[in-house]
Amino acid sequence: MRLVLVQNKPLLGQVSKNLAAVRALVGETPFDLLVLPELFATGYYFNNRDQVDRLSEEVPGGPTTIFLQELAASRGGFVCGGLVERSGGQLYNSALLVGPEGVLTVYRKLHLFFEEQLWFAAGDQPPAVHDLGFARVGLMICYDWRFPEVARGLALQGAQLLLHPANLVQPYCQEAMITRCLENGLFAATANRVGIDTKLDGEQLQFTGRSQVIAPDGQRLCSAAVHEPQILAVDIDPAQADDKQVTPYNHLLADRRPEHYQVLLDNR
Ligand code: ACM
Repeated sequence: MRLVLVQNKPLLGQVSKNLAAVRALVGETPFDLLVLPELFATGYYFNNRDQVDRLSEEVPGGPTTIFLQELAASRGGFVCGGLVERSGGQLYNSALLVGPEGVLTVYRKLHLFFEEQLWFAAGDQPPAVHDLGFARVGLMICYDWRFPEVARGLALQGAQLLLHPANLVQPYCQEAMITRCLENGLFAATANRVGIDTKLDGEQLQFTGRSQVIAPDGQRLCSAAVHEPQILAVDIDPAQADDKQVTPYNHLLADRRPEHYQVLLDNR
C-alpha cells in the first residue's frame, strides 16, 4: 500500500487558507492512505475558549470534515487528520478516519497536553482498530504516544499500522515511536506540523516537524524536514506487522504475562 504523510504549516485560526495549502501540497500525489497532522486546519495554540468554539465543527458537516471527505472520495483512498470536534456541548481534540464512502470513525484524544486541558474534554472511548481491507489501522493523537498502553491496546486488537496525527513541541516522540513499533511489532505513521503559533499575548509554541514512518523492526522508512512543509510517500506491506516472532522461542504478544500486570489497571 502507498502511505502518504502531509507535514503542513497552518496559520492559527485560518481554516480556509490552511485547507487550500494542504490541497496544494497533496497535489496529484497518489495514495491509498493519507495522514495529516493533529488540528491541521486550525492551528494549535489557541487564545481562549471562544476561539476554540468558533473553530469547532460537528462531524459530519463542518469544513474540515467536508474537505477530508472530498479528498477521500475524489481519490478513492482513505484520509486521516485532526480537527476540533463539537459534540453534546463539549469540544474534543479529535481525528477522523474517512474513506471514499464517508466518515469511518472519530477518535477523541485520550491524553490532553498542556493548555488543551483548558479547552477540550478528554476522549471517552477506548482506541479501536479499523480494517481498511489492505491494512488494519488504529488511531492515536500526539501526546497519546507517551502512554504505551494506547499502542499496546491497538496491537492487541490486531492493528498493523498506527495513524498518529501530531502537533509535537517536545523533542522526544520521533525517537520514542521506534520503541512503540519495536515493542508492538507494527508500523507507525506520525504526521507532525512545522512552524510557530503565536498567541495574542505573544506566547509562542514551535512545532518540531520530522514527520516519519517507522517499520515493525524499528527502521525509520522516511523522515521529513524540521522546518519545511513536506509530503512523504512510502510503500509498505502491512502484513509484515503480523509476524510477531522475535526468535523461534519468543512471540511479542504471546510472551506477555498479563496476570502480573494488574497494577497497570489500578487507579492510583
Ligand atoms: C501534543 O499532544 N500536541 C503535544
